[in-house]
Amino acid sequence: MQRFLVEPVEQFAGANTRIKKPTELAYFSYDSEHKLKPLDNESLRYYYPPFFSFPGHQDNRFPFELSKGYDTFRQRDDSGDEHLDGLLDTLVEAETRNGKKTEVDIVTWRGMMTRILTAPYELEDGFEMNATCFQGTVFIEENHAYKTASKEAQKARFSRNRGPPQDMAMYWGYKFETLSLLNKPWGETSREEIEGREDEVVDNYAQYCSICRTEIGGTSMVIGGEVDGVLGYKPDDPQAPARWVELKTSKQPEHERDRWVLDKKLLKFWAQSFLLNVPKIVIGFRSRDGKLLNIEELSTQQIPSRIQREGTYKWNGNTCINFTSQFLAFLKHTIVGEGIWRIRREAKSAAIEVFKVEESGTGKILTQNFIDHRNSM
Ligand code: A3P
Ligand code: MG
Ligand code: MG
Repeated sequence: MQRFLVEPVEQFAGANTRIKKPTELAYFSYDSEHKLKPLDNESLRYYYPPFFSFPGHQDNRFPFELSKGYDTFRQRDDSGDEHLDGLLDTLVEAETRNGKKTEVDIVTWRGMMTRILTAPYELEDGFEMNATCFQGTVFIEENHAYKTASKEAQKARFSRNRGPPQDMAMYWGYKFETLSLLNKPWGETSREEIEGREDEVVDNYAQYCSICRTEIGGTSMVIGGEVDGVLGYKPDDPQAPARWVELKTSKQPEHERDRWVLDKKLLKFWAQSFLLNVPKIVIGFRSRDGKLLNIEELSTQQIPSRIQREGTYKWNGNTCINFTSQFLAFLKHTIVGEGIWRIRREAKSAAIEVFKVEESGTGKILTQNFIDHRNSM
């Protein structure tokens, strides 16, 4: 077993290591039945906040009731293990189209990279991932059994808290998305459709995911993750400034403790968005009982300096990036040759452990389709 020490985090302080701005290399949609559509923009949605009213029309619907329509929520069962399937199937399509392999050190979901990036300051949550090396690239997935167990623990924690029921709080997040996004660009949407969003059935089957290529320190990677929406339109040129928007809901801070919780959440929001080059985070602030009170738009890039200046929970973005750079270099050197590895951080532990769990094969981390495709290239 190999151990990589996260603490003391001061060892990672200082000006940050070289990073490359993530650029979109491919994308996919899960359609309204959650069927995968590689290289398809179908499920991309367009940001248009709910409080914009039309000329001559008084919008007095604030505060919105985020609980409205809870009984008709069309909620997808996400308890299955999807491994890296959607990401790999899309890479197969993209590589077949371009006729060339995506040569990178690491391929994974954005969620896994978020766990790594935030590891210096997220001591409470542990994580477990599975990794395998194939044709010189390390593929990393979430360890599904661990995810299921931690979801159960989260449920128990939630029911002990005095906050809203967990299912309801989750609905509020999706309801805020439905209120703030359009299924088509603004110019193709009627006033009735825009104003009718309050009565639209909330549904989490469809998703748009962006697959980016990026570099942190000396490690190149491909990461796939959901993007909630786009501001105006998606530029044709992948080098053009991104117009992505990430939506979040959070309780409107009232007490000092609420501020602390929000500043800590901002670490996750920042990390998630930084990794896919999402420049804007829109927070829907709600009351304790789910009334949407106001909306704040934050620039992702400015979050770390704001936290340094006035954060009640201090975290340092450069420290996160430097840690990630060194940890990924360590992973690259550790996960080589045949087999499957586990990457594990126990809750509150100062170290991340990496150890082999299978001597050969790639488990279910890779699909047969991907292996066949690569072997035929
Ligand atoms: P909020 O986070 O705004 O409350 P994402 O923010 O990643 O786009 O996710 C959209 C919504 O899905 C979240 O909205 C939340 O309602 C729900 N969600 C995502 N991850 C969740 C988790 N681990 N547990 C519970 N709900 C989750
Ligand atoms: Mg999302
Ligand atoms: Mg979101």
